[in-house]
Amino acid sequence: MPQHYLGIDVGTTAVKALVVDERGSVVGEAESPLEVSVPRPGWAEQNPSDWWQGTVNAVRAACAQAGIRDVESIGLSGQMHSLALLDEADRSLRPAILWNDVRTTAQCRIITDRVGEAGLRRLVGNPALEGFTAPKLLWMRDEEPSLYDRARTLLMPKDYVRLLMIGEKATEPSDAAGTLLFDVRQSRWSEEMIAALKLDPAILPPVRDSAGVTGRLTASAAEALGLARGTSVVGGGADNAAAAVGSGVVEQGAMQTSVGTSGAVVAPIGRHRVDPGMRIHSFNHAIADTWYLMGVVLSAGAALDWFRRTLSAPNESPPPYDDLIAEAAGVPPGSDGLTFLPYLTGERTPHADSNARGVFSGMHTGHQRGHLVRAVMEGVVFALRDSLELMRPLGVYATEAVAVGGGARSDFWRRMQAAALGVPVVTVAPRGGAPYGAAILAAVGSGGFASVEEACRAWLRPLDRIEPSATASAAYGEAYERYRKLYPRLKSHFAEQAQDKPPE
Ligand code: XUL
Repeated sequence: MPQHYLGIDVGTTAVKALVVDERGSVVGEAESPLEVSVPRPGWAEQNPSDWWQGTVNAVRAACAQAGIRDVESIGLSGQMHSLALLDEADRSLRPAILWNDVRTTAQCRIITDRVGEAGLRRLVGNPALEGFTAPKLLWMRDEEPSLYDRARTLLMPKDYVRLLMIGEKATEPSDAAGTLLFDVRQSRWSEEMIAALKLDPAILPPVRDSAGVTGRLTASAAEALGLARGTSVVGGGADNAAAAVGSGVVEQGAMQTSVGTSGAVVAPIGRHRVDPGMRIHSFNHAIADTWYLMGVVLSAGAALDWFRRTLSAPNESPPPYDDLIAEAAGVPPGSDGLTFLPYLTGERTPHADSNARGVFSGMHTGHQRGHLVRAVMEGVVFALRDSLELMRPLGVYATEAVAVGGGARSDFWRRMQAAALGVPVVTVAPRGGAPYGAAILAAVGSGGFASVEEACRAWLRPLDRIEPSATASAAYGEAYERYRKLYPRLKSHFAEQAQDKPPE
């Protein structure tokens, strides 16, 4: 009987499921869309029950496509940092507060004041940023104390799905790292940080191995998913870590650029290291004793998606991506002087500024729609370059980037990345990305391979390679300088605008 592995990614816009056979080929795949609710500007929420329903839909559809009812094991991946809080009966207390929700600026200040920058560097290796989990928990304590008092368990999205699968609570280092409560260097919850914030350590789930079995499908989960009871569920990884596993970015010297809802530059490191200025995140990889440095662009694919949707009338479907990209391709690199800052929900790297907002600058009457599309795409790539520029001095010498995420499907966007980042951009087969990485972790966790590295060697192969074009690189160099100068000039304007915002 051939064996199959299931990789699931609980993303922001969809739950994705992939069925992979024992040779690593994708034999079934499906996704189930998720809505993000924005109850107030800067907020982003989702119902944890939607994660589960999305998982059921995607798994059933992917297994039907593969023609199977049984898998060897399941690997989980998901959006990082998002907070689901459960009561003593494991009922969700409120909609989850997501990674791109920036309501927690006051709590970030409180954490930094209480622990100090040096304390944060020493205890958790990362700064207090709005997107991370601990500030969200403190926000609940400050703003919704009666709900907070009933909280007994904190879970990230993939770990919530795990609870419904196996009936037990667990996380693994790559997701724990994004809470700001985890000692990334020692790979365990930071008792000191938890005590400093006066939190109850009992609400944190146990930390298991990313590539180890955390439990087995209960009868009711098996029935809901259409799979066999007792199927093992492996730790898995945070989406950026799992995506890196799925594209073989597992060792120092490799680098991944991703353009999904968010964007990220991910570079594994063999020894724990913290950016002295903490502008670059330092997290545990989904491989034991490996870490990665990461810069995060909050609105990457989300910026193009926003633009596409704003172009259409309320009852009209948005124009297809391919049409928009074809228009952008008719415009020269640099968009004839048009610059876009993709800071639609603030920005993480390099500015750590939740007040920042999206900007088109330099518009003139000669600009067409294609210029706007191209400027949005360039803005996202320049934001990735900002991260790469900060990572180079930290010893990220990678000479090529593996592109993943929905944005990597566009040959045009990958070409732009190659020229604007100044490195060849490659893709891997069968598939980079988080659900495939989750399937690799499932295969390793259930004994199909001795290590993640061995699984990557067996299953992954190069697909495509784009060398940077010298002429486009020069044009992007100039456009990037224009881009880079814009934020410092607007920073105080963004802050003023945030002060002026009407009372909520
Ligand atoms: C990483 C981050 C995002 C989410 C997207 O720090 O916040 O990339 O993981 O799901």
